[in-house]
Amino acid sequence: MTDSNSSDKNNNDPAAAARGSQLANDFTVSVHYDRRLYHEDIAASIAHARMLGRQGIVEGDDVEKIVDGLGKIRDEIESGEFEWNPDLEDIHMNVESRLYELIGDAAGRLHTARSRNDQVATDTRMWTQTACSRAFEAAVSLQTALVDLAEQHVDTILPGYTHMQRGQPVVLAHHLMAYFEMFDRDTTRFAQAAESADVLPLGSGAMAGVPYPIDREWVAEELGFSEVSHNSMDAVSDRDFIVEFLAAASLAMAHLSRLAEELVIWSSDEFGFISISDEYTSGSSIMPQKRNPDFAELIRGKTGRVYGSLIGLLTTIKGLPLTYNRDLQEDKEGLFDAADTVIIALESAAGMISGMTVNASRMRQAAEKSFVLATDIADYLVGKGVPFREAYIAVADLSKQCIAAGIGFGELSLADFRKASDLFDEGVMKITLESAVAARNVPGGTAPDRVRAAIAEAKQMLAEAQ
Ligand code: ARG
Repeated sequence: MTDSNSSDKNNNDPAAAARGSQLANDFTVSVHYDRRLYHEDIAASIAHARMLGRQGIVEGDDVEKIVDGLGKIRDEIESGEFEWNPDLEDIHMNVESRLYELIGDAAGRLHTARSRNDQVATDTRMWTQTACSRAFEAAVSLQTALVDLAEQHVDTILPGYTHMQRGQPVVLAHHLMAYFEMFDRDTTRFAQAAESADVLPLGSGAMAGVPYPIDREWVAEELGFSEVSHNSMDAVSDRDFIVEFLAAASLAMAHLSRLAEELVIWSSDEFGFISISDEYTSGSSIMPQKRNPDFAELIRGKTGRVYGSLIGLLTTIKGLPLTYNRDLQEDKEGLFDAADTVIIALESAAGMISGMTVNASRMRQAAEKSFVLATDIADYLVGKGVPFREAYIAVADLSKQCIAAGIGFGELSLADFRKASDLFDEGVMKITLESAVAARNVPGGTAPDRVRAAIAEAKQMLAEAQ
């Protein structure tokens, strides 16, 4: 069938045409998701209407009707009475159409000096700012949970790992505070993304500006924006601020996913370092003995969709000529989904950290039944004047012998040590997990005193963030 045949056929067949228009609707309609912008959309419309009144562009009576009507619409939406109509495509048209029903012709004056292009950019910027501050708060509550748990475990020793192999002893608080640092950078990024969104596009019109004596600064102030956009063409087509939010959310998810992965591993029978509270696990439908770490797994699993939103939007904007193109409507679902996901993931992680039980003796055992003191024993020889590389070889030999004999360093006598190097003396017998962590008394090191100081500093920061 050729194209001309098929269009002839549609032209002569009303049912096919109707199917075609239904398809067009399904494809272009966004109201089923962009209704989430209702609060911002109505607030921005009210500010715009008031400004039109102040500037003498629309008469005061009409402005009052518009503002009243918009207030009613907000109530209707919030009480669930509002009838959303997909034929009206998006949130903006749904609100405008209802305004006509409520106040008649005055409704037609609201869209003076405005376009859906600057309108949707304004709504989305407002929504993104709120999402940033909610994500910020959720990250802070996770940081608080981490610090609280860290405070209880400044003296709890476990092996630190590299390559998933036991490496050197660390205190649990130090491990937890590593995540504190990651989420701290995430809060900075969320704050930065909010700042990027904090520019008012309204007044840019469709793309060239508007031929009315509007007061953009007044609207900005009404809506809480710090500044107005500098270029109307940029303002209606820029979605960088969403990319920035999605990038911040993606990194936060990466950090959450690493934490979640550790919780999964640590709660396994093989490790037994922690148990996750029942609230954050679920039973298996077939294996009665199991508690599965579902929340941790879902945090890890949902990371992909947030990355997907970031890559999706970057791809959407890459080939767009100036200015607004309908492609930009694709910004919202990814934004909403990523915001929902990162916020609930941060909150769940906070809950999991607060509620988990630490098995300190299992952690200690894992450190004891290992060679995590090898570096310290080598360092001991370095203290006696041996070059580090030579000391390293001596201790590597020693640990091979231990492994062959099925024993740990703790079971060696001084005589055994002296077989590896006659520079070993009584002091080597005093190397313990405690002495090893205490020795790492450098800024950023795992010495309990340093970790206590880091926790104190973190608590101070959190108190200031409140
Ligand atoms: N629903 C549209 C969006 O999200 C609103 C702007 C429509 N503008 C237009 N010129 N069709 O992008």
